[in-house]
Amino acid sequence: MISHIVALLLAILLAGIYFSTSGRKHDVKLNIPTKRSFWYIGTPEFFVDPFGFIMECIEWSKGELFSFRVMNNTVIVLRGIPGRDAFFSKGLDFMAGYRMLNPQLVDVMPVSEIKGDESWAGFMANFIRSEVLERMYPTMLQDISKIIDTWGHSGATDPFKNVYELVFALSMRLATCNEFCDDPTKVKALMRIFDRLEAGSTPTSVILPWFPTPARIGRLLAGGELYKMISDVVQARKKEGRREDDPLQVLIDKGFTLVEITRFIAMTLFAAVTNSGNVLCWLLIYLEVHPAWKNRVRTEIQDFLETSSSIQSQPSVAPIANIIANMGTEAMEAQTPNLDLCINETLRMIFTGTFMRRNVAEDIFVSGTRIAHGTFLMYPTADLHFDPSIYPSPHSFRPDRWSPEAVEDRKKMGITFLGWGAGRHVCVGKRTALLMMKMIVVLVMAGFEADIVDERGQMLKELPAAKHDMLFKVCPTKDNVLLRYRRKPIGRD
Ligand code: HEM
Repeated sequence: MISHIVALLLAILLAGIYFSTSGRKHDVKLNIPTKRSFWYIGTPEFFVDPFGFIMECIEWSKGELFSFRVMNNTVIVLRGIPGRDAFFSKGLDFMAGYRMLNPQLVDVMPVSEIKGDESWAGFMANFIRSEVLERMYPTMLQDISKIIDTWGHSGATDPFKNVYELVFALSMRLATCNEFCDDPTKVKALMRIFDRLEAGSTPTSVILPWFPTPARIGRLLAGGELYKMISDVVQARKKEGRREDDPLQVLIDKGFTLVEITRFIAMTLFAAVTNSGNVLCWLLIYLEVHPAWKNRVRTEIQDFLETSSSIQSQPSVAPIANIIANMGTEAMEAQTPNLDLCINETLRMIFTGTFMRRNVAEDIFVSGTRIAHGTFLMYPTADLHFDPSIYPSPHSFRPDRWSPEAVEDRKKMGITFLGWGAGRHVCVGKRTALLMMKMIVVLVMAGFEADIVDERGQMLKELPAAKHDMLFKVCPTKDNVLLRYRRKPIGRD
């Protein structure tokens, strides 16, 4: 049966190629470079390797706008400063853009906003507002210390798994329920579900959203498992007449259905985990390759810990987590400015994908090109992040670019940094993400001597290449790296 369907699809594909009429190098109607496309699927290269395809087009189009097709839809990639101004100031639709062009989100994004007028982003922002973060701070610090205390005295682990797990556990606190967060087996189970949801998201999901490929079946099953885990907790609370002080209770009290709750949790985890986890791993890598900055950050953390305690030589980081917790979130934020500089610079260098939108209003004009109603749009971050007139020697890691004076100086150029978004859709999780990353770096550096090494255990001399598997995501490294650690007395070296 499956082989018949595959044969039929192949026949449709070949017919499409044969009868294709739109394989032009230059689209006369749009008057911009346009990639060859085929009936039904559009531009095939986009589906094979979206990141590689867009990067190759950026070279090929020589700074001009360019277009390609995803099925019957025109996608225009805006460029440079005029493109930036149109992309971030007009009323373009955020959800519609990502739902179509980022297959990772096809199944988890809602098709409409939350009940009433509240947007999903606004609703999510409410879950991570300052009072909630302040209240959760001690528990989140304890979550980290419980996990890193299981690492033992010394060892080497894959940061894209183990450091990522820390971010995952913290994000679960912000999006799920106490029953999951207090049970390490549930944290691991949810992480596996999340991996399958992400791994099942291939570009084919855009062309054939209904086709039961093994990847898609895997994703649906993972979604089903998440639904079942949540449903069990909701039923147990109902049966026992029990209430908890956690995000799930808020969703239940708001009258959300189980499907809506499952979607909200999956979306929040996607928004919170993937970028924060991978940015944090890259931060550790960048610090390793730039030892002067690593030393600055280490000294800053020692100073911060000394102002908070005189604890020496503990077998666990739990006591230091308690003391940091008592100082509140603002102390951590204010006393680690070098970490801020390094995180921003890491984001500038590693966040190299594209933003996505759809023009759902009237036609607009950018650099003389008409962007018709219904057109999908992309904007590459590299057009700003690697523009030497904005960031001299753009490929060098220079955290000093983020000093308050340098930032103030760049303000006259308008939007120059997209690491946390810009315009109408600035990241609502910026403060949360920074705090999560800082909590983890501080506790890991407080408890361990830690270095990033290559998979043979050799010191990293240069940056590893990134494995660009998604367009809007900070991706992991292509070759494995390891976090090598050895427990140290807590306090000054
Ligand atoms: C290092 C971690 C993170 C990075 C680099 C990051 C980056 C971004 C960027 C660039 C955007 C704008 C996308 C666009 O305009 O197309 C965005 C939006 C958003 N982010 Fe984050 N984010 C991070 C962590 C988080 C966390 C922890 C949360 C929530 C818990 C979150 C929630 C959101 C939401 C809801 C939006 C959509 C805002 C809207 O529609 O107005 N993000 N993020």
